[in-house]
Amino acid sequence: MEAISAAKPIIKVAAICGSLRKGSYNRGLLRAASQICQESISGMQIEYIDISPLPMLDTDLEVGGKFPPVVEAFRQKILEADSIIFASPEYNYSVTAPLKNAVDWASRPPNVWADKPAAIISAGGGFGGSRSHYHLRQIGVFLDLHFINKPEFYLNAFQPPAKFDSEGNLIDESAKEKLKQVLLSLQAFTLRLQERERVTMGAVSAAKPIIKVAAICGSLRKGSYNRGLLRAASEICQESISGMQIEYVDISPLPMLNTDLEVDGKFPAVVETFRQKILEFDSFLFASPEYNYSVTGPLKNVIDWASRAPNVWADKAAAIVSAGGSFGGGRSQYHLRQIGVYLDLHFINKPEFFLKAFESPAKFDDDGNLLDESAKDNLKEILLALQAFTLRLQGCNFNVSTISKFPRQSGSVSEERAALTPFTKDIGQRFHASAGYKLGRTSGSYDWHDLETCNCNNEGRVISQFQDKNFKLKDRIYNYKARARMYKMALVASWVFFLIVFILSYWVKDVGNACCRRNMFGKSLDLWEAYS
Ligand SMILES: Cc1cc2nc3c(=O)[nH]c(=O)nc-3n(C[C@H](O)[C@H](O)[C@H](O)COP(=O)(O)O)c2cc1C
Repeated sequence: MEAISAAKPIIKVAAICGSLRKGSYNRGLLRAASQICQESISGMQIEYIDISPLPMLDTDLEVGGKFPPVVEAFRQKILEADSIIFASPEYNYSVTAPLKNAVDWASRPPNVWADKPAAIISAGGGFGGSRSHYHLRQIGVFLDLHFINKPEFYLNAFQPPAKFDSEGNLIDESAKEKLKQVLLSLQAFTLRLQERERVTMGAVSAAKPIIKVAAICGSLRKGSYNRGLLRAASEICQESISGMQIEYVDISPLPMLNTDLEVDGKFPAVVETFRQKILEFDSFLFASPEYNYSVTGPLKNVIDWASRAPNVWADKAAAIVSAGGSFGGGRSQYHLRQIGVYLDLHFINKPEFFLKAFESPAKFDDDGNLLDESAKDNLKEILLALQAFTLRLQGCNFNVSTISKFPRQSGSVSEERAALTPFTKDIGQRFHASAGYKLGRTSGSYDWHDLETCNCNNEGRVISQFQDKNFKLKDRIYNYKARARMYKMALVASWVFFLIVFILSYWVKDVGNACCRRNMFGKSLDLWEAYS
């Protein structure tokens, strides 16, 4: 590693502050970061990018495929940066409007954030602005940013002793030291993800190394659809992906976490075995069902067991798939990604895989085996992306010739497709202007819905919001087929009724006479009288 650091290339970091006010503490953090970098970090340049001139995003401002000049200039700056450092104040538990606005401008196709490493720092109230981090990380999934997990930096700006002077300059020495650790981590992660580092490391391998992937399912039930996804993934891997082995790891024998079970620094035998297994894998494929908008208890339990010191998940690549109700289990994925920050897992951003398991045509058979062919194709894309990202994190340079043409959000227009697909050919190459890539707006964009299996027919068995065929909500099972049968029967009955009325009226000889003379009750009697 010494030889590498001697020849470290210079990485350019774009520094962006979400606060517009002059004395902003968050901008103060970026000034301090820039100073620290100049004084004590070689191979890294920080450039502050002012977001205040950007107009509020309004797509009507995009005329003839061009952005307003100030937006074009901002996008160009982002494109040229190797990585990004965000200083993100927390407004109402989330990112600020100016920051979101800047993020959105640069995300317009082609998305210029794509595939860049990033870090977040913040200064704010009680939690030091940290709640904005988690929103920004989630936004970053679609932007395809790769955030460092550690260290996290959030500073309570209002707790004595003072952390900033009256002009918003950071004066707290321990905060400066932490800031330096963030910068070093961002530098290391940027170099790790970049081609040049991998070439420097001389890890070019002619043959792809075999990576071992642990497949972990958050559902315990026998016919689990999510486990079905893992079985399908394993089959796909065996049939059509070289250099990757998937092993299913059963989580059901693990006891519920109770630290009292850790005796003399030892875990229960079954937990020790599980932790040892996790340690041996290169990356993870989680099948994460959504229970009450989050991950399941069994999944959280194994995550927690393996996170106990020393955390055996640390620094590995991971991907998530899910099958479930309306969002296909997607909400559990965002919780799992957030948990992964502490675990120090590096999740692939794209593609995302959410399968609406209860829409017709049936996606699974009665044993929970995946039937849907397009879902299988999407699963394969996940596996290829996981394989590529695992190898990239491991510093292996190889040509991912089998990597698919899965549409990335940053490349969407046909004339630019050739220039915009280098990532899909060589996972390390990025969308720099130098790659002949035009910084122009594209006509169509990919949307995350493209990644879902879209079926809008509601036939099939759907049981309450929990969407599990074994789940009964107050013993009421909602069965769409039964309901459809009921509607059909009602329709037939109404036709029969009208037919009878028609025949009766034909038999009645003097209908006008019978109908018009009396009131409603008399009329019906008259009808009988007229008939008789
Ligand atoms: C509209 C608004 C909402 C805010 N919401 C939060 C919040 O949810 N959590 C928090 O810790 N601070 C909140 N704050 C306080 C900011 O963290 C504080 O103003 C901080 O200094 C802003 O960063 P700056 O110094 O870089 O401008 C809020 C401030 C504003 C103006």
